[in-house]
Amino acid sequence: MSILFTHIKELLQTRPKSELKVVGSAMKDLPHIKNAFLRIQGDTIVDFGSMRDLVVQESDEVIDVTGKIILPSWCDSHSHVVYAGDRSQEFVDRLNGLTYEEIASKGGGILNSAQTLQDTSEEALFEQSMERVNALIQLGTGALEIKSGYGLSTEGELKMLRVIKKIKDTSPLKIKATFLGAHAIPKKYKSDKQAYLDLIINSMLPKIHAQKLADFVDVFCEKGYFSLEDTEQILKAAAQYGLVPKIHVNQFNAFGGVGLGVKYKALSVDHLEVLNSEDFEVLKNSSTLPVALPGCSFFLGIPYTPARKLIDGGMALAIASDFNPGSAPSGNMNFIVSLACIKMNMSPEEAINAATLNGAYAMDISEQYGSIATGKKANLIITKNMTSYRQIPYHFGNNPIHKVMIDGQFVD
Ligand code: NIG
Ligand code: FE
Repeated sequence: MSILFTHIKELLQTRPKSELKVVGSAMKDLPHIKNAFLRIQGDTIVDFGSMRDLVVQESDEVIDVTGKIILPSWCDSHSHVVYAGDRSQEFVDRLNGLTYEEIASKGGGILNSAQTLQDTSEEALFEQSMERVNALIQLGTGALEIKSGYGLSTEGELKMLRVIKKIKDTSPLKIKATFLGAHAIPKKYKSDKQAYLDLIINSMLPKIHAQKLADFVDVFCEKGYFSLEDTEQILKAAAQYGLVPKIHVNQFNAFGGVGLGVKYKALSVDHLEVLNSEDFEVLKNSSTLPVALPGCSFFLGIPYTPARKLIDGGMALAIASDFNPGSAPSGNMNFIVSLACIKMNMSPEEAINAATLNGAYAMDISEQYGSIATGKKANLIITKNMTSYRQIPYHFGNNPIHKVMIDGQFVD
């Protein structure tokens, strides 16, 4: 099946396939072709260029998209979309004055979601999660990382990872799975954290490896959760199974998590709402990608990741949704792109680079996703009529999408 799009108002993010991420000041540039064509064969981009250079060739379908913009679909590199129930009561508690930390210390937060997950069947968990994933596809997400971390027992974590695997097998989305057993300390291990670390290392990791259920490993490295020493134990053990780290660091406190991630060759370090000068230095001299989660800052009212300092300091940056029931209950990447501009002073070009190619890099899939290049997957957003791509972040909260295509197929 071949499809030819013609008269594309702007074809965004056209780059050589070999360009795997966009770094520092290069993020200001969003390569695009005005009045373009794009040819797809099966699930792959085979040709594109200016309408002037279009050579007439047989196509099964020709679609005139006059007035519309085409860009690669969003690559959301950090989500907790597999969860049970919701935490809207905690949302109201926060509105009434409690903090996220206070709610967590009273046994709410992640432990609340873990209890609900335990009480929910695997089938129901799959259905609830799949409903969210399907909504994300309509919002333009074409690749998604999903974490475990609400199981907090061997059985619970395996249950979550099996659900992620089932989503991978049934959804058209490109999915990457991350094992986040070290998301919180379960109640029964409160006075013996090491016993829980041992369970992760000696029981969960070998089983997850044997069943091939995870691509990456994550730890919530934060005061009251997992210390540097705890994190290091897990990253060391996970490395023996070939699991590359993508870790939660510096959400509320900066105490060396960034450096530890870099030491263990993390693909990404995520959150970074609080960064000190040491963190900037280690990041600058590494291939680890910083990931900002502006939806979490927005929802919790905490500082935003200092995107300007990172980008102007010569670093790459990705943005992701962090979709989860506690700190960011939305996976709408269009809104995340708006927030990056409005709250982190990123330009539309930088935000779109951060949500496409750099997002793909943060999932180790940028050889196939995140830009328009011949040989890459035809995962596309076709926007409604607009004057320029700047309208995507400008009309915050609006849905800019006309249609989405995943691996060469339109999704209805
Ligand atoms: O990325 N910070 C840790 N984990 C999630 C929140 C999880 C939750 O509250 O359920 C986050 O913000
Ligand atoms: Fe998260």
